[in-house]
Amino acid sequence: MKNKYLCLICAIVVFFPIFGKTIEVNIIPMPNDSQQVVAPEIYGQFAEHLGRCIYGGIWVGEDSDIPNTKGYRNDVIEAFRELQIPVLRWPGGCFADEYHWVDGIGPKENRPKMINSNWGGTVEDNSFGTHEFFDFCELLGIEPYLSLNVGSGTVEEMAKWIEYITAVDGPQAKIRKENGREKPWKLKYVGIGNESWGCGGNFTPEEYSNVYRRYQTYARDFDGNKLYKIASGASDYDFNWTDVLMKNAKNYMKGLSLHYYSVWNWDDKGSATDFSPELYYYTLGKALEIDSVINHHVQIMDKYDPDKKVDMILDEWGTWWNVEPGTNPGHLYQQNTMRDAMVAALSFNTFHKHADRLKMTNIAQIANVLQSMVLTNGDKIVLTPTYYIFKMYVPHQGGTYIPLDIQTPLKKVPSERKDFERQVPIVSATATEKDGVVTLSFANTSLEDKVKVLIPLESLKVGKIKEGEILKGENISDFNDFDMPEKVNLQPFKDSHIKNGILELELPEASIVTLRLV
Ligand code: AHR
Repeated sequence: MKNKYLCLICAIVVFFPIFGKTIEVNIIPMPNDSQQVVAPEIYGQFAEHLGRCIYGGIWVGEDSDIPNTKGYRNDVIEAFRELQIPVLRWPGGCFADEYHWVDGIGPKENRPKMINSNWGGTVEDNSFGTHEFFDFCELLGIEPYLSLNVGSGTVEEMAKWIEYITAVDGPQAKIRKENGREKPWKLKYVGIGNESWGCGGNFTPEEYSNVYRRYQTYARDFDGNKLYKIASGASDYDFNWTDVLMKNAKNYMKGLSLHYYSVWNWDDKGSATDFSPELYYYTLGKALEIDSVINHHVQIMDKYDPDKKVDMILDEWGTWWNVEPGTNPGHLYQQNTMRDAMVAALSFNTFHKHADRLKMTNIAQIANVLQSMVLTNGDKIVLTPTYYIFKMYVPHQGGTYIPLDIQTPLKKVPSERKDFERQVPIVSATATEKDGVVTLSFANTSLEDKVKVLIPLESLKVGKIKEGEILKGENISDFNDFDMPEKVNLQPFKDSHIKNGILELELPEASIVTLRLV
């Protein structure tokens, strides 16, 4: 009888780790003189004509019953304002290389329709076009990032689009004015093609570098507008693409892009909400591997460009799961759990480390597609756990990076690549300083254990906790949905104090915390 009870208790401890331990982790700030600033554009977004990202996600049109301002959803405007979005990439993705901008200007009833061949064969009515995009950016103070059509567009078409948007006078400006916009818009970022090794034209790197050189020649600066030209870069581990582009075209670009998705199996990407602890840790390992991937690409860039004149632009990243059951497979609509929030936090902690070369990232995508900020359904909206990470991390935008020595245990996770070893730290953290305020963000990745973090503050020259926030679900698979929109939400964080110049805080299992110190 006694043994029976003993076995039961053992089983509970093994299978239900309710008695997790508390791990102690020391973090030593290592401020240096480099004064490396985390570009605000690291917190950029991406909106593609894909599924319900634009239509229903951002744009409902002025005649909609859904409350809107000039056609843009009011709830979305309000949510996006909080994120202080620095830059928005549009109109794709793969869609960009099939997009013909002239179809998206002028009276809406005259705009031709097209089939969105990349994304579910949906009919695109072009009601959201150049004016709608640039006005949206203006409304929210966002820097537009235009993806130009190289795959199926001509040099002339591309050149005229830039003229239409940015010239004060001339034939294209005249048409713009007839369409209701007198002043040119400001346009800085232009991407010359997207995934040119794949949906953007299936070029070899040698072919594309020549095509890039040609197209970029005609991407002109009009009337004081200055373009920042970004070449279509590699995916993940395609280091040869970076090598050839840098060798052949580095003098013609300001940025070179990179795409990296935290996908574990492209044939069956798994459920967004139903996953095992093993898959959770595996996903974090895959997300963190972007550190090594960036390092490899940066080494190649350094070889050709030691002065770091060409920036790295990670213009697509994030998680990619199977679509929600019953939704169009081509619309990439997925739920978003605390696991996605953890991926976002670990990714930003990693991006900050590369602030000297990495100058922009654009998560895929802003609404209703992949790892999105918001999900909408008719007139309803939910803010995702990933949204809350972006919100918590706003104070890092434009901050000076402070390196940290994080003395954390590591968890080894499997990798399908022999050349990369994946390890997930129990604690991941990052620190920046802006206007005398030090912002520290921490993630406890462990599903079982709490963590006590100790940080000596002397070198940071701060001694008071100003505010703190925590994001945590009851379970790692928790998410917000239309019938439970607040299940995962930011809460004030109270478990921190400063004693004898040491900041001490206790991080619950699978939680993310941001503290601001003065
Ligand atoms: O973000 C979804 C798609 O992923 C983009 O259109 C494409 O560039 C990438 O393959």
